[in-house]
Amino acid sequence: MSNKLFLLPGDGIGPEIMDEVKKIIEWMNANLDAISFEIDEGKVGGSAYDAHGAAISEEDMEKAMTADAVLFGAVGGPKWADVPYEVRPEAGLLRLRKDLGLFANLRPALCYPALADASSLKKELVEGLDILIVRELTGGVYFGEPKEITDLPDGQKRAVDTQLYTTSEIERITRVAFDLAKTRSNRVSSAEKHNVMKSGVLWKEVVTRIGAEEYKNTPLEHVLADNCAMQLVRNPKQYDVIVCDNLFGDILSDVAAMLTGSLGMLPSASLGAPDAASGKRKALYEPVHGSAPDIAGTGAANPIAMVASFGMALRYSFGLIKEAEMVDAAISNVLDKGLRTRDIATEGANVVTTSEMGDAIIAELKALA
Ligand code: NAI
Ligand code: MG
Repeated sequence: MSNKLFLLPGDGIGPEIMDEVKKIIEWMNANLDAISFEIDEGKVGGSAYDAHGAAISEEDMEKAMTADAVLFGAVGGPKWADVPYEVRPEAGLLRLRKDLGLFANLRPALCYPALADASSLKKELVEGLDILIVRELTGGVYFGEPKEITDLPDGQKRAVDTQLYTTSEIERITRVAFDLAKTRSNRVSSAEKHNVMKSGVLWKEVVTRIGAEEYKNTPLEHVLADNCAMQLVRNPKQYDVIVCDNLFGDILSDVAAMLTGSLGMLPSASLGAPDAASGKRKALYEPVHGSAPDIAGTGAANPIAMVASFGMALRYSFGLIKEAEMVDAAISNVLDKGLRTRDIATEGANVVTTSEMGDAIIAELKALA
C-alpha cells in the first residue's frame, strides 16, 4: 500500500488539533497490522508566510502533490490581517485546491447519538441522520468569467459574476456522487434550479444521462435547490447523497452540517480526478472550521473534526474501511461516555481539553482493536 500522508497543521488551533491526529497515527502505526503510514509535515498559511514569505512554499507544494493524502488543519488569524493579498493565509489553501485539482468536496452530516439532543431540530428528526453532500468545488459562479465591477455612464456601478459549467465538469462530479452512493444507501438527489438557470438545465440533463447510462441501479431524484434547503430542515433523513454545484453546495452543506452539531465536529474531504495509471485520486482532508484564534493556545479546541477528517482519509484515500469505522466508533463512544470539549459541553458535562479528548479517542481505539 502506498501510504504517504502530508500534514499541514497551519495556524491557530490547527497545530493543536493536528497533534491529536499525529498521536492517533502513531498509535495505529504501532498497533494495527493494516497500517504503516509515512508522515511528513509542512507549513501553510500564516506560519508559512512567517517562515518563507509565501502562503505555502514550492517545496511543500511538491510534497502535497506527491502525497497520497494531505491532512490540513486551518489557516489565518489577526496576526496576518495586513499581509499582501497574494500571500494571505487563505491563498495556501486555494493554491492546494487548484494545483491538486480538487473538484469534489464531500461534507458529511452525521448525527452522533449522544449529541442528538444538541440539534436545533427535534431529536427524532436527526437521530440516525447520515447524509453526504457532494459539492462541485472548482467551477460555477465563484470562478466563472466575466467576473467584474464596471462603471456605467449614469454613475452607477454594475457587478457581474458568471455561473458557468461545462458538460465534463458536471459529468465528473456526478460520477463521484453516484460512486459514493453505491457505498452507502444507494440514492442520489441532485439539487439545481433548472426552472430559472441555464446552468441548471444542463446540470439536470447531464446528471440524468450519467445516472441512466452508468448507474441504472441507483435511484436518482431531482430537487430544486431552494426546496432542498427547506427539506433539509423539515425532514433531513429523506436524503442520502446530495450532489450540487459550488454555490448551492456551499449553502446546503452548511445547513446540513448544523443539523447535527457544532463547527468543531465537522470534517470534510476534497477529491481530485483519478490518476490515469494508478486510479488514485489526489485528496485533501480538513475540518470545516477555521483557525479559531479566540481559543488558540487554551486547550479548548475540539479535535473531533480533524480526527474525523483523518477518518475520511482512511476511507476514501486508502480504502481502510474497517479502520475508518473504528475511528467513527471511537468518536461516538467518547461522546457516549459524556466527554465534551467546551464547544459542545452542556450543563454538568465532563469538560476535557484538546489532548484529553485525543487520548480518550485512542483509549477507545485500543478497546475496539
Ligand atoms: P472559526 O471557524 O475559526 O471560528 C468560529 C467560532 O467557532 C469561534 O468562536 C471558534 O472558537 C469556534 N471553533 C471553531 N473551531 C473550533 C473547534 N475545533 N473547537 C472549538 N471551537 C471551535 O471561524 P472565524 O472565527 O470566522 O475565523 C477565524 C480565522 O480562521 C480567520 O482568519 C479565517 O479567515 C480563518 N478560516 C480558515 C478556514 C480554513 O482554514 N479552512 C475556514 C474558515 C475560517
Ligand atoms: Mg461555507
